[in-house]
Amino acid sequence: MSRPALWSIRRAVSWATEDFRARGFPSPRLDAELLLGHAIGLDRVHVVIEGERPLDASELSRFRELIQRRRTAEPVAYILGQREFFGLAITVDRRVLIPRPDTEILVQTALKRTERRDAFGRALDLCTGSGCVALAFACQRHSWQLTAIDISADAVELGRENAERLGLASTIRFLVGDLYEPLGQGERFDLITANPPYIPAFEVDRLESGIRDFEPSIALDGGPDGLRVTRRIIESAPKLLEPGGVLALEIGYDQGSRVEQLMQAAGLGRIERARDYGKHERVVSGVLE
Ligand SMILES: C[S@@+](CC[C@H](N)C(=O)[O-])C[C@H]1O[C@@H](n2cnc3c(N)ncnc32)[C@H](O)[C@@H]1O
Repeated sequence: MSRPALWSIRRAVSWATEDFRARGFPSPRLDAELLLGHAIGLDRVHVVIEGERPLDASELSRFRELIQRRRTAEPVAYILGQREFFGLAITVDRRVLIPRPDTEILVQTALKRTERRDAFGRALDLCTGSGCVALAFACQRHSWQLTAIDISADAVELGRENAERLGLASTIRFLVGDLYEPLGQGERFDLITANPPYIPAFEVDRLESGIRDFEPSIALDGGPDGLRVTRRIIESAPKLLEPGGVLALEIGYDQGSRVEQLMQAAGLGRIERARDYGKHERVVSGVLE
């Protein structure tokens, strides 16, 4: 961006849009509008409405800094420090995976498959990361008690911060550890959810750089066949579920049959496979009968 005669909001957004487009970013205008709004403290609607408003030198300089970060392929959600999920503003940074829209299918499945259960249920969200799944579920089921576990202490720290900011700190207990390991003896749940790392190890290096270079690899790498964590979750789930309890897991687009077989082998029944917004299989759920 050269020294301007006068930069209006519209002109700055157009300039950044063209810059991002030339770099092959998938949503250049949206990125430019969000980043400019962040730089000057306006929401996206006002960035459009106030297009003619001139930018002062400090606003331009803040916008320039954000453009530089985006040019390194840093995801916009990390730059903004926030991503919307299930209608909630989730704080995100490099400690956690950025919540994806398709993970809303996991929350929808959990809600649907537990709608006839006790008002006072107990749910466990494994691999919780930012806490987005547990937080979204808790907002819909006020009387349930939730436990959220992640192996990354950094992620759990951020999950707790999200729960506090959203007024859910007393509803969700956050624990650090390897899957079920931090739970107490004899604990049982009416629902277990998880969005585990499920990308086969050999594919992680081929991911686009915004994901590969910025998001935590422990959130992505599912081992040689992508199912290393998924398999362990399913094998132990029957010991942790109440009779009639539900296990719901997010999966990779081609893992549906294998995950269904694993659930059957573990003794779960009434298995269902749900598709995401792009029509890929995304969630498998089953019931301990
Ligand atoms: C795909 S991310 C999901 C984060 C969040 N639930 C979401 O849907 O956006 C997977 C998460 O699993 C955690 N994780 C990986 N291995 C784990 C394990 N063995 N036990 C507990 N958490 C684990 C990672 O730290 C990461 O936060």
